Amino acid sequence: MDKAQQDALKKAAGIEAAKLIENGMIAGLGTGSTVRFLVDELGRRVQEEGLQFTGVTTSRRTQEQAESYGITIVDIDDVDHVDITIDGADEVDKDFNGIKGGGAALLWEKIVAINSNKIVWIVDESKVVDTIGKFPLPVEVIPFGAGQVVRKFEERGYKPVLRLDAEGKPVRTDENNYVVDLHLERIEHPQDLADDLINTVGVVEHGLFLNMVDTVIVGDPNGPRVLTNGNK
Ligand code: A5P
Repeated sequence: MDKAQQDALKKAAGIEAAKLIENGMIAGLGTGSTVRFLVDELGRRVQEEGLQFTGVTTSRRTQEQAESYGITIVDIDDVDHVDITIDGADEVDKDFNGIKGGGAALLWEKIVAINSNKIVWIVDESKVVDTIGKFPLPVEVIPFGAGQVVRKFEERGYKPVLRLDAEGKPVRTDENNYVVDLHLERIEHPQDLADDLINTVGVVEHGLFLNMVDTVIVGDPNGPRVLTNGNK
C-alpha cells in the first residue's frame, strides 16, 4: 500500500468516526495523521452544520488544529467527564491490545483515554496485526537519568533507541520528557511487559494500551469496518 492509498483509508476512518460526535458532547481528540482527518471533518461539521461540542485534546498540535476551526477546547481538569475519545493507534491485535505513541503523545493520550466513557480508535488496515511489537514501543521517560533507563532496557533485551529529532536532539513530549522506542518485534506477554515498564523508575508511561479501546474503525478498501471489543 502506498502513502496515498494509506491516507485515503485513514481519511475514510476519520470521516466515519466524526459521525459519532453529537451536539453537546465532550469529546477527546487524539493525535496523529489519522486524527488530523477526523478534526478536519469535525471542523467542517462545526462550520457547515452548526455542530456544537467541547473538545479535550491529547496534544498541543491537535489543540491548534481544532481551535483553527473554531472548536472549543478545554483542559481535561475542567470537565467532569469525557463522553467519547477518538484517537489513532500504531498497532492493534485481535484482543484489542494496542501500541500508541508513534507521535510522542502517549502520556496525554492515556490520561484522556482512562477518563473517557468510550474509546474509539481509527486506523488503516495495515495497523491491524496478529501480534503487536513490530512497531517500536514508545516509552516516555524523565530526561534526568534517561541514559540509565536506556541501559536497564538494554540489559533486559528490549533494544531501546532514544528518539531523536531531525537535528539529532532528543524529541521532547508535550510534558518535556524523552521518548525511548523499544524494538521488540513481537510482544508475546504485553501485560507482563507493561508491569515491568511502569515499575521502572524514570518511566512516566508506556505506549501499551491493553484492552482499553471499545471500538476500532478500520479504513478498508471496501469501506470502513467496525471492530467491537466484547471483553470490556
Ligand atoms: C500519537 O502519539 C500516537 O499515539 C498516534 O495516535 C498514533 O501514532 C497514530 O498515528 P497516525 O494516525 O499518524 O498513524
